[in-house]
Amino acid sequence: MKIGIIGAGYIGSALAVRLTSLGHSVAIANSRGPETLQDVAQKTGATPVTAQEAAHHGEIIVVTIPLKNIPDLPSDLFAGVSAEIPVIDTSNYYPLLRDGHLPELETGDLTESEWVQQHLGRPVVKVFNNIYAEHLEKSGKPAGAPGRIALPVAGDDAAAKQKVMALVNELGFDAVDDGSLHESWRQQPGTPVYGTDFPAAELRQQLDQLGTVRTDAQREQFAANHAVQEREMIKQFQAPAAK
Ligand SMILES: NC(=O)c1ccc[n+]([C@@H]2O[C@H](COP(=O)([O-])OP(=O)(O)OC[C@H]3O[C@@H](n4cnc5c(N)ncnc54)[C@H](OP(=O)(O)O)[C@@H]3O)[C@@H](O)[C@H]2O)c1
Repeated sequence: MKIGIIGAGYIGSALAVRLTSLGHSVAIANSRGPETLQDVAQKTGATPVTAQEAAHHGEIIVVTIPLKNIPDLPSDLFAGVSAEIPVIDTSNYYPLLRDGHLPELETGDLTESEWVQQHLGRPVVKVFNNIYAEHLEKSGKPAGAPGRIALPVAGDDAAAKQKVMALVNELGFDAVDDGSLHESWRQQPGTPVYGTDFPAAELRQQLDQLGTVRTDAQREQFAANHAVQEREMIKQFQAPAAK
């Protein structure tokens, strides 16, 4: 397949390495232009392009940039791209560490990917948000292998979700249907499935026991869990400078 990736950081590069090794043609973009992506091209085998070119490269497009930068993407990014091409969103909201406070995401009305979808003006499928980039690059296993990690996949377009689930499987992970984009709060930061690498049966059980409609208590609990994780990360980043 031809696959376009917008974002050439940890997740964009991890995906590019795996996808090129599977024989796909990958075009990759960042914010600074293709001429700054020579190292990424060498490491991943992907072709450096502009974001516009990546958005028009192929059968699946991945948007994997920090959430706060989503509104910077051109409003006509997907102009002329067929509605049948799935757009994957890998976003997570890190209000303390990176993104600043976005009130629309703190009331609980919108999920993070619904917010992204509104800004892109295009339906998205949420996946790859709850696995560390290193595990995405290195921990894939053949179907049926013991301990195969499962990833939740959420979205409103059944056909797009099926295509993305097939790609997840090809990358070496079981794909577990996490329902609609409005239900994708169940795979956001602070939830039991965030960064935990569960196999399929356990992932299914964890998602199911959360229910489908997020309660205020769940929203507050998961935001509090995530704030603890963010503060730990901030401490780790600050530690070398403090020495
Ligand atoms: N890191 C992880 O393990 C992980 C795991 C799961 C999900 N996620 C989520 O996935 C998303 C990406 O994370 P990451 O860790 O891969 O990010 P990252 O390493 O910080 O890389 C961000 C990339 O986005 C590009 N970018 C920023 N603004 C852009 C724009 N307007 N147009 C085009 N490209 C732009 C940057 O390009 P420049 O450098 O040129 O600005 C950079 O290549 C985030 O929402 C993150 O929370 C991350």
